[in-house]
Amino acid sequence: MADNRAIGVFDSGLGGLTVAREIMKLLPNENIVYFGDTGRVPYGTKGRETIRKYALQDERFLLSHDVKMIVAACGTVSSVAADTADVLPVPFVEVVSHSVRAAVAATQNGKIGILATSATINSGAHKKQILERLPDAEVIEAAGTLLVPIVEEGWTAIDDSVAIETLRRYLKPMMDAGIDTLILGCTHFPVLSSIIRKVLGNSVTLINMGEATAKAIEQMLALGNSLNDGVNAAEYKFYASDKTKSFEKTVNILLGDYNNDFEIEQVDIEKI
Ligand code: DGL
Repeated sequence: MADNRAIGVFDSGLGGLTVAREIMKLLPNENIVYFGDTGRVPYGTKGRETIRKYALQDERFLLSHDVKMIVAACGTVSSVAADTADVLPVPFVEVVSHSVRAAVAATQNGKIGILATSATINSGAHKKQILERLPDAEVIEAAGTLLVPIVEEGWTAIDDSVAIETLRRYLKPMMDAGIDTLILGCTHFPVLSSIIRKVLGNSVTLINMGEATAKAIEQMLALGNSLNDGVNAAEYKFYASDKTKSFEKTVNILLGDYNNDFEIEQVDIEKI
């Protein structure tokens, strides 16, 4: 048995491409429909009700593309609006629980850092799930509000002084506490991994939500006999609610090697 329908992936913007990239890498036969709500990004500074309303619209858009599964490739949606998926007719995958599981498995000293948007940190979702699995864990959180614009601006080179200094400030309390594991709780952050390693040193394990989530997707599809049979080459379709001047540059940064000059179609998400 196989299911050749696409996996639907959405994010508040383009950050979720770092998750899409991991799905492409691990599951090269799978078709993907991606929606980035670039017209309304960021979600991470907005209130719960607004984030829920947006998430419901994004999920409805993907359902209109007959997807077999919906992935909330957004730390913020996964933290504060995962229950919007309770009514979905297809399996739903969020990015928090899988990264928490990976972090708990990785930590040796029980000191885990979380770097995410302020909505994600305020939700307490990661901390709650970590403590359920590891009651003695010490969790140190930081809302890295300035980091999303830094990534969007393309200041991601290993020697970028603004990115380095900003990360030093956010990560200082975690370094002082002696964390050995850091969850990159926002989809934009994997592209800052090299700088984060430079700041934290190589002994801290970085948890990339995309990698942890792609593995979970593979397992879920395999269990449900829903993997693509791979007879046809995978197709990727990208949609966004706005196209800005720096759009292409940002797509390049986030998709990395997986950027293949994909066409991105603009849609009016309010009208879906
Ligand atoms: N995609 C969001 C996340 O992973 C970051 C950008 C935003 O604030 O919307 O939390």
